[in-house]
Amino acid sequence: MSARKKRPAPPGVAKTDDVEAMIRVDHAGEYGAVRIYEGQLAVFDARGSGTKAAAAIRKMAEQEQHHLKTFDRLVNERRVRPTALEPVWRLAGFALGAATALMGEKATMACTAAVEEVIDDHYAAQLERLNDDKELKKTVAAKQRPIVMITSNNEKELPDAFLRRCFFHYIRFPDPETMERIVQSHLPDIRKDLAREALQLFYEIRDVPGLRKRPATSELIDWLKLLMADEIPVAALRSSDAKTVIPPLHGALLKNEQDIHLFERLAFLHRRGQA
Ligand SMILES: [Fe+2]
Repeated sequence: MSARKKRPAPPGVAKTDDVEAMIRVDHAGEYGAVRIYEGQLAVFDARGSGTKAAAAIRKMAEQEQHHLKTFDRLVNERRVRPTALEPVWRLAGFALGAATALMGEKATMACTAAVEEVIDDHYAAQLERLNDDKELKKTVAAKQRPIVMITSNNEKELPDAFLRRCFFHYIRFPDPETMERIVQSHLPDIRKDLAREALQLFYEIRDVPGLRKRPATSELIDWLKLLMADEIPVAALRSSDAKTVIPPLHGALLKNEQDIHLFERLAFLHRRGQA
């Protein structure tokens, strides 16, 4: 007689056996996370590292210890058989943590991000199947609202693990009218003629082909602050003056050698054209 295959539970309904299996997997996962952090901290402690990354790992390790205790209790109370792979987790988790810590802080944080992502996805999927088990549901549900951060991935590539948790929204660069309002809100005391002339020059600079790094809003605000502090006259910004094709205090706008050289060449050509 052939053994009958167990039929999978329909989505959204978790049987007692399934819940036990979930607790076993969760318990193993928390144990693995604890061992990874222990491996990382062993390396950090041996090196006497007191960096921000070490402090962050220590804090996350404490949280994982707390999670593990919760699942230790659930395993005991519900008489769930713990995973037979515990000795493997003990060694492999610690070794993975130690290896990434030895590779440096970047690798440590990448490992942490990957582990946390897998855990989050796992619990999110589990929540969908837990209808009746209020205790387990409460245990695996997020305790804190996620912190929302707005950042730009146009400046440099962000890691895939980070991007997977991001919602992408494209924000166009502000048009001159919007930028005028932005400038007003940052610098309410700026003279209107200075703001108008500076903005025109700013957009002209952004349009110069071949710039390695086009100045953005924060550079504009910094530049305007400097122009105001140094009481630069509006006339000095007028590009019709051959001597001022390179804008005054341009170091606030152009941030690399190649772009400065590009402007110097343009100024030279402009002067020759007027001669
Ligand atoms: Fe955890």
